[in-house]
Amino acid sequence: MSLRVGLFYPNSKSVHVMSPAATAKVPDLLSYETHTELAQAAEQGRFDYAFMADGWGSMGPGSRDMGYMDPALVTPMLANTLLAATKHLRCITTIHTTWFHPLLVARIGGMLDAMSGGRWGINVVTGAGFGETLDRELFGNLNSEQRYERAAEVMEILTRVWSQDGEIKHRGKYFDLDGWLVGPHPVQKPLPLIVSAGASDSGREFAGHYADYIFMPGRTPLEELKKRFDDIKRVAVSHGRPADAVKLQMHVSVVVRKSKKEAQEFSEWIAETIDLKSVVEYLNSVRAGISTYDDIYRSLGELQMRQVGSVAGSRKIHGDADEVADHIEMLHHKFGCDGIAVTFPVWNPEEVKNFGELVMPRLEAKGIWTAPETRGYGW
Ligand SMILES: Cc1cc2nc3c(=O)[nH]c(=O)nc-3n(C[C@H](O)[C@H](O)[C@H](O)COP(=O)(O)O)c2cc1C
Repeated sequence: MSLRVGLFYPNSKSVHVMSPAATAKVPDLLSYETHTELAQAAEQGRFDYAFMADGWGSMGPGSRDMGYMDPALVTPMLANTLLAATKHLRCITTIHTTWFHPLLVARIGGMLDAMSGGRWGINVVTGAGFGETLDRELFGNLNSEQRYERAAEVMEILTRVWSQDGEIKHRGKYFDLDGWLVGPHPVQKPLPLIVSAGASDSGREFAGHYADYIFMPGRTPLEELKKRFDDIKRVAVSHGRPADAVKLQMHVSVVVRKSKKEAQEFSEWIAETIDLKSVVEYLNSVRAGISTYDDIYRSLGELQMRQVGSVAGSRKIHGDADEVADHIEMLHHKFGCDGIAVTFPVWNPEEVKNFGELVMPRLEAKGIWTAPETRGYGW
């Protein structure tokens, strides 16, 4: 099966690189024109999908000053722009099931999927990472297990309201529903694409039960990745699904240039311009237990901090076109990945087209990727 290639779509000036200098080079985030051009570049570049991460809480003043995940565009709304600007590109949007009512998710998703002819997917996240400690009333006071329990109940509700012309009688732990939901309902049956990046016990349980795609940080070591993925497959089988029902997508950060030297210079420039304060805020937000700058600095050291600041949790693939294509081939064969979601540190339509022109033909020559139009598009 052909690899799927996704664009890790920027809903912020900077999503995985903590360099104010790099952020200063991206197009205007708050412009429909920017997103129309970027989406069309992804389609022309033969990307299968755009994946949009989303979060609610700012990580802190450093991140805010440099535009790292703040401001952040509301992804189901951004998806509307992308889907309207393209014909084949698919779009996965993150929705927090911990604070979106399932009927609201059903309406948003139903419209996006129906109006795009079945090109929408949902990344189900439960929150409480990425600085989301804003307000208990909005964000609830649920532990990880309860959040996934609620997410599972949301999935049961979506499955029913989307498949029975909207009729539902539901008495659950978190929701009590009785009536009919207005359409449109999704055209993808039985459900639009379901994505999860769950990693904890409850997260893997959720992914194995419900997800079509599992996203993993590109930096996950091979042994850990295998352990998690095998467990997700085991859960899938325990729910009567095929072992290969869940496809693995790895998050990578790509700088590709015609020469190794150009790629290396660009990569070094990013590392040199990293804002270490933002790295600390990011690590505080995703890691528990380490809270001060000094602790983090001591445990990681400056070089590694710059590395984290350059790619966050993704896998760094910086090089000429052959190096980049070889690395992706390795991920496919050795890590068993079915696809990649690509971040560009300085995102703009040129980077996206450049990837399409330099890397896609090489993946095709290796026999691991075919153009979406030759397989009738689809997930
Ligand atoms: C590639 C990738 C993208 C993610 N996108 C989001 C996101 O947009 N919003 C969010 O709140 N969490 C996001 N997460 C976090 C996961 O949903 C999940 O919470 C995390 O991997 C920890 O797993 P756990 O929830 O099972 O503890 C992402 C994780 C990965 C690896």
